[in-house]
Amino acid sequence: MPSAFAPGKCILFGEHAVVFGHPAVAVAIDQGVRVSVEVSDKWKLEGSSFEPSRHPHISHIIQNIFQYTGPPLDIDVDSSLFSAAGMGSSAALSNAFGAAMYAYLNPGEKLDAVMLAKMAHSAEASAQKGRASPTDTATSALGGCVVVSGRAVPGTRHVFDTSLKTPEGSRKWAINVVDIPPRIGDAWLVIGYSGTGSPTGRMVAKVAKLISEVPDMMEEMEAIANVTRAGLVALSAGNLEGLGMAMDACHDSLRKLKVSNNKLDRMVSAARLHSLGAKLTGAGGGGCMVALTHEPTMVSEAIEVAGGVPLSTRLGAEGVRFL
Ligand code: PMV
Repeated sequence: MPSAFAPGKCILFGEHAVVFGHPAVAVAIDQGVRVSVEVSDKWKLEGSSFEPSRHPHISHIIQNIFQYTGPPLDIDVDSSLFSAAGMGSSAALSNAFGAAMYAYLNPGEKLDAVMLAKMAHSAEASAQKGRASPTDTATSALGGCVVVSGRAVPGTRHVFDTSLKTPEGSRKWAINVVDIPPRIGDAWLVIGYSGTGSPTGRMVAKVAKLISEVPDMMEEMEAIANVTRAGLVALSAGNLEGLGMAMDACHDSLRKLKVSNNKLDRMVSAARLHSLGAKLTGAGGGGCMVALTHEPTMVSEAIEVAGGVPLSTRLGAEGVRFL
């Protein structure tokens, strides 16, 4: 049975600033989405009847990408990600389903991660009224550490460019990667889910309103861009302490942009006792925080005591793959 796995993602730096053209840094995580497809007598998703309008990512891939007209399929999905929490669950689903469909239609052929990243990005855009950043889909497809930016980023390796026609005009991004040195690969990320979703569109609009009311807040975007650059230098050099410090500084800027909340702040403070650094990750307003640590069990316990649900992962898992 053709099946594939695609990882979720965790943003280390640059959330919100990336909307203003600055770089964002994300790593693929161990958790993700597994999808398998099998010919069936009727269209099914996870054992129930498949309703295309309720699953826009999957429908887009079936109809617009593969223009599939073959027999009905039974689609099985198994996810270890919190959904709508900034972990890239819809991107991982799009990548894993796209890969499983590709394997079903082209048996024995190799997977092209860049092709899949572009396919999944178009599925995200079609499901989100034409607006989607390629961060989640590119990180899930390529794996490792991905830097998304409006312009070239020194110290990174360029992989591909991508663009999208949004209701606000055309947008372009460069997708770059950074190798993760062994010292960083030995550390853990503990992601803590706050128990509520992270409404990306609402939080991006909230930041835009704050900046229009208090233009000086734009300086916070520059601060995040500086922290992102410093964090990338630390990551590339295997400097875990520097990486953790940059994560702490990133959280301070995100708090000034008012995208954190009490629960995320409590979880970040609790995790910091046993961490090199901790911050909220993704759009904020709910969703997740993340801590960099050598003591994942202690940090997981601290997050639980603060009311969150922890998940431990290494940094920079392998990208989408056939199973
Ligand atoms: O959707 P999330 O929670 O992974 O956050 C996305 C990051 C933002 O910068 C807030 C939005 C974006 O499109 O990049």
